[in-house]
Amino acid sequence: MRKLVILGATLLAVAGSVISAQIEIDDDFMRSVEDSNKSLANHIAIKDTKGVSIDTKELSEMFAQVEAFYATKGDAQDALDITKKSRQLIADIDKSVASKDFDGANVMASDLSRACKSCHNFYKKS
Ligand code: HEC
Repeated sequence: MRKLVILGATLLAVAGSVISAQIEIDDDFMRSVEDSNKSLANHIAIKDTKGVSIDTKELSEMFAQVEAFYATKGDAQDALDITKKSRQLIADIDKSVASKDFDGANVMASDLSRACKSCHNFYKKS
């Protein structure tokens, strides 16, 4: 039984490192996040619904990866909370724009940028 537990724990650790190896939250990845975030703000400003939906799709995929990364890494509850909140904002921005509420989308886009900063305060080393 003890051996099985140890074997199980080892397998989990191996599986965890394989999953987390799929993405790294590094400068390159974050620059793509920043590009999409800027593009989103621009598209909301010029009321480009189609552009917004492309940006929100990219951002929600990237934030799903960020969430998976911190979930695998463990001991990162703040990052998980911020990422969940961000994914909700991204989904809500999409909905607002679909119903032509660009002002609402704009406010949520500012909240999203604040969420970026709060994660950087916790986790960005430099
Ligand atoms: C859950 C945590 C988290 C969230 C949310 C997050 N970031 Fe980051 N970001 C990081 C970490 C960690 C780094 C440092 C990465 C490194 O240097 O290895 C970073 C680095 C960056 C950098 C610096 C890249 C460089 O050239 O040095 C930019 C720009 C950036 N993030 C933009 C954003 C934007 C824009 C958002 C929101 C739309 C965002 N980030 C959301 C964790 C996060």
